[in-house]
Amino acid sequence: MASSSPEPLYVPGEEPARHFGPDDLVWTAEEQQTIDGWVAQYPTADGAVMKVLWLAQEKFAWLPAEVIEFVADTLDLPRAKVFGVATFYTQYYKQEMGKWVLDVCTCFSCQLCGGYDILHYLEDQLGIKKGETTQDGMFSIQEVECLGACGSAPMLQVTNGPYVHNLTPAKCDTLLANLREGKLPGFESVTLPQDEAELDGNRRSDAEVIEQYVTPPVSATIE
Ligand code: FES
Repeated sequence: MASSSPEPLYVPGEEPARHFGPDDLVWTAEEQQTIDGWVAQYPTADGAVMKVLWLAQEKFAWLPAEVIEFVADTLDLPRAKVFGVATFYTQYYKQEMGKWVLDVCTCFSCQLCGGYDILHYLEDQLGIKKGETTQDGMFSIQEVECLGACGSAPMLQVTNGPYVHNLTPAKCDTLLANLREGKLPGFESVTLPQDEAELDGNRRSDAEVIEQYVTPPVSATIE
């Protein structure tokens, strides 16, 4: 199966490719009002940058250079600053993505539980490598850092939405088949066993008896 590779966002010394023109790069009155409300919540406009990038991604589907610049100009921030935020998070798309984006976690816990096997399995099934999109525009794969669901590793996230936990090749097959039919996985609540015997040597429940912290939890320091 053929794939498409992303073009780099910026090449030093070269003007980045433009995908949206000046007529596209405008907010509606309603969007501008929303942005003004966000900005008003913070001491400086920096505080609203993530929300405005998110709004821009919902509007334009991804964040090419001119959209990042548009967000920077909206907030009157240095473009480099907004570029830094947009490029730090895999949740902001710096390339055109497929309809379904599979964010496969290969951070510590997922890696130990076979995260790379899952990543490579999906790459093989879709005929693309991470960072690529299938030719039919249906799927993109990203390798991502911890998504905060280490207890159900290995896992992935679909298009900044639902998590799929405790992945196996069979579960990946089902996921791909469902997504091809437009069916997103539903929310799945995954809890860790709380019973000491069930934990099988994992002494997590001992957290209950800790009376002193080197760094106390924030909640313990609020008066
Ligand atoms: S390491 Fe994968 S969710 Fe935390």
